[in-house]
Amino acid sequence: MSSKVSRRQFLNYTLMGVGGFMVSAAAMPMIRFAIDPVLASSEGGDFIPTDQKADDVTETPVRVDYTIKDRKDAWYKSDVSNTAWVYKDGDKIIALSPVCKHLGCTVNWAGDDTHPNEYFCPCHGGRYEKNGKNVPGTPPTGPLDQYEVEVIDGLVHLGKTMPNTLV
Ligand code: FES
Repeated sequence: MSSKVSRRQFLNYTLMGVGGFMVSAAAMPMIRFAIDPVLASSEGGDFIPTDQKADDVTETPVRVDYTIKDRKDAWYKSDVSNTAWVYKDGDKIIALSPVCKHLGCTVNWAGDDTHPNEYFCPCHGGRYEKNGKNVPGTPPTGPLDQYEVEVIDGLVHLGKTMPNTLV
């Protein structure tokens, strides 16, 4: 049995090698570009400043609107508006997400005249107690999420949302 490589086989191997190299050389930058945002490290964990002075926070929830600047969402960078309901529990500042746990509408504090000390979701009548606990018998099946909170230079700073630790 001969182990010689025929001219035809040699040409096939050479063409496959050169062709494979050229395809991979052309494809690698495109693959890298396509998955770059996935590989980029997350900038999570930062606290975003709000205009809310910590000293002005009372036991009654107030709506705090703030902006997350230059938030990266894969290939896009944009400013994102966010909202929290902020109140004081003793010395502790609590911030709750306004996103209803039923279908994601925005809840309002005292949004329903008949339940002035609760959050109310206008979409389907969802109700939550001040600490975010969903009122049984209304559509939401879980409590409102909570924000991480820090006070820096007298201002309330908000971090990521987390499951409610108060209920
Ligand atoms: S979305 Fe809030 S009750 Fe349905």
